[in-house]
Amino acid sequence: MKNLPDFYTGAPLDPDDLAFRDEFVAELWDELRTQHVVLSAPRRTGKTSVMDHLAAYPKNDFVPISVFVQDIGHPADFILLMLDLFHEKHPKIFRDLFRSGGKFIGSVLGTIKEIDFSGIKVGLREKDPNWQNNWKSYGDEFFSEVRKSEHKILLLVDEFPDMIVNMNKHHPELVRPFLAWFRGHRLSPHPKKDSVRWLICGSVNLSSTLDVLGCLDEINDLHDIALPVLTNEQVKQFVENMLAGRGVEFSEKVPTRVAATLGRPVPLFLQMVTVNLHRSWKRDGQKLTVRDVDAAFDELIVSSGARDKLQHFYSRIEQYYQSPKKEAAYALLANLCLSPDGLTRDALLADFTRILHEHNHPSTSDVRKSLFNQLMRDLENDFYVAEIKANHFDFASGLIKQWWKKYYA
Ligand SMILES: Nc1ncnc2c1ncn2[C@@H]1O[C@H](COP(=O)(O)OP(=O)(O)O)[C@@H](O)[C@H]1O
Ligand SMILES: [Mg+2]
Repeated sequence: MKNLPDFYTGAPLDPDDLAFRDEFVAELWDELRTQHVVLSAPRRTGKTSVMDHLAAYPKNDFVPISVFVQDIGHPADFILLMLDLFHEKHPKIFRDLFRSGGKFIGSVLGTIKEIDFSGIKVGLREKDPNWQNNWKSYGDEFFSEVRKSEHKILLLVDEFPDMIVNMNKHHPELVRPFLAWFRGHRLSPHPKKDSVRWLICGSVNLSSTLDVLGCLDEINDLHDIALPVLTNEQVKQFVENMLAGRGVEFSEKVPTRVAATLGRPVPLFLQMVTVNLHRSWKRDGQKLTVRDVDAAFDELIVSSGARDKLQHFYSRIEQYYQSPKKEAAYALLANLCLSPDGLTRDALLADFTRILHEHNHPSTSDVRKSLFNQLMRDLENDFYVAEIKANHFDFASGLIKQWWKKYYA
């Protein structure tokens, strides 16, 4: 890490600025020795930053290729994008692999002397009118050539569940064939013996996405790892380092207050509030106090920079939660944001039961309880709520609670 990292308010961190992730990065490399890995965590918590670090400082002789697939909706686009990025990043290795002339990629490469800036993807599409239906052949050839070579390839696929959701929207008939084909390549050869390795990443839980599509069995081989949540100590350390490093004077209560208000910290909001503190010090030139922290949070909630990011927490429920959990989630959170100290599990369950009735969702009390438990688990995993003491829940993030109250109560 550099001495004094920059502030980041949305973009992934420069790998040299990545703090608090050394242990986790080491753990990931260790897991990737023998298996394929899924990394899930909510948006804006630092997944892409970790992946960028792996790509910038590869270990165990892996050649990394990062593929961002959020807007992809067809398996052929996925395979071609992967080839394109591979060729762009590692043209020599790419040429080397397909020199011997395989049926698809190899033969196209043979006909192209210089690949102009439109890239290999466009080249392949021009040469093969049937490229969209040939995605399996392209993929098979790619993996088979890698496996024959001495190279080890690490594919870092970002926002994978979104791609599956898109595929399901535009080409529903291809979802299962794609997942089955992909699974086949992960199982055979055994990952320990395979020179192709996958790290799959998503802001949306992959299991819940595939569960809804009835395809959960297609990923049960993947090893799930959660991105660690920053600890209270790390949050305080961040505020201290970033402010002290810039010559800001602050009361010793400032970092504690930031940690307390953030609750379960979304790293992006930690950065944004620290930026506000820094700005307020530059403006007033006064030693910062807890009052400045409260003002910095108030400012954050109404700032245009934070709005769309906070908004995402609201709209992702609409996008990813199924009825009646969707309606129930909105109602429970609206209620919770008005309760200064949170609510008991029983109070939330009573609320939930009422909402189900209102939406004419007849169900036995067993079904209702199990739906409720699922919903609470999703809300916890997705950073909305936390169990602050036994059977007592509140918003996980004080910031999101404040914001919810302002706009959605
Ligand atoms: N290790 C970290 N320390 C401090 N802030 C971080 C860290 N990782 C991420 N962030 C914050 O989160 C934002 C989003 O990071 P990113 O890696 O793009 O997250 P994700 O891919 O999960 O959406 C960054 O702009 C930065 O504000
Ligand atoms: Mg990301």
